[in-house]
Amino acid sequence: MELAELVRQRRSIRGYRREPVPKALIREVIEIASAAPSSMNTQPWHFHVVTGEPLERIRQENTELMMAGAPLRREIRLHRKYEGVHRDRQVDIAYQLFDAMGISDDREMRQDWMMRGFRQFDAPVSIVATIDRSLEESTVAYLDVGAAVHALVLAAWERGLGTVINGQGISQSPVVRAHAGIPDDEIIVTCVAMGWPDEAFAANDVKSTRVPVDRIANFVGFDE
Ligand SMILES: Cc1cc2nc3c(=O)[nH]c(=O)nc-3n(C[C@H](O)[C@H](O)[C@H](O)COP(=O)(O)O)c2cc1C
Repeated sequence: MELAELVRQRRSIRGYRREPVPKALIREVIEIASAAPSSMNTQPWHFHVVTGEPLERIRQENTELMMAGAPLRREIRLHRKYEGVHRDRQVDIAYQLFDAMGISDDREMRQDWMMRGFRQFDAPVSIVATIDRSLEESTVAYLDVGAAVHALVLAAWERGLGTVINGQGISQSPVVRAHAGIPDDEIIVTCVAMGWPDEAFAANDVKSTRVPVDRIANFVGFDE
């Protein structure tokens, strides 16, 4: 697939078939992700691929703690509540998804949707992306792992695999750290839920909108 088409076509997948994903295919996708650029070629990233029993335990404990009202335990700094245009965009995509699922007017089902996020949308695989703790203060390292994660989701899409980058899935990061065996010298940045898309799952067809180029790009020094 041509790059522009691949980047434009990819979308987050939140409903998966139960079929497992071959380890060799995941390795291939990670190998492509590792070709991403990084500052001074430091390659500060690691990918912990979790499936089966350990992933079930992560889902269960993450969800239980979130349902019990436990505070978020993330390992990176987060902006807790969006405002202004950022809040508007957050609400827009949420309602696009709720409308697709026919749950916009159903408070209980919207709550259930949130729980699905904490369960990593029941994907058969979760890839936890980390950076070396020694680079914790380097904002650049987070840019680096972001570049690799984008390459990863594109490489997956090209192979018919769906993904959603899923902060909710690591809301209780100590749980993820324990069950995925993540060493102390790494920081959990995010996770990517992955699997074969369920074609019948309506939210998988949702195409999120983007701000036009004229509002995000500023061209300086051009003749016209
Ligand atoms: C860092 C990051 C964290 C995300 N966390 C979640 C999440 O917890 N739950 C979710 O449903 N989507 C999550 N997403 C997916 C975004 O909602 C999605 O990328 C955005 O709405 C654009 O849609 P698209 O991926 O279909 O283009 C996350 C995306 C990123 C980049």
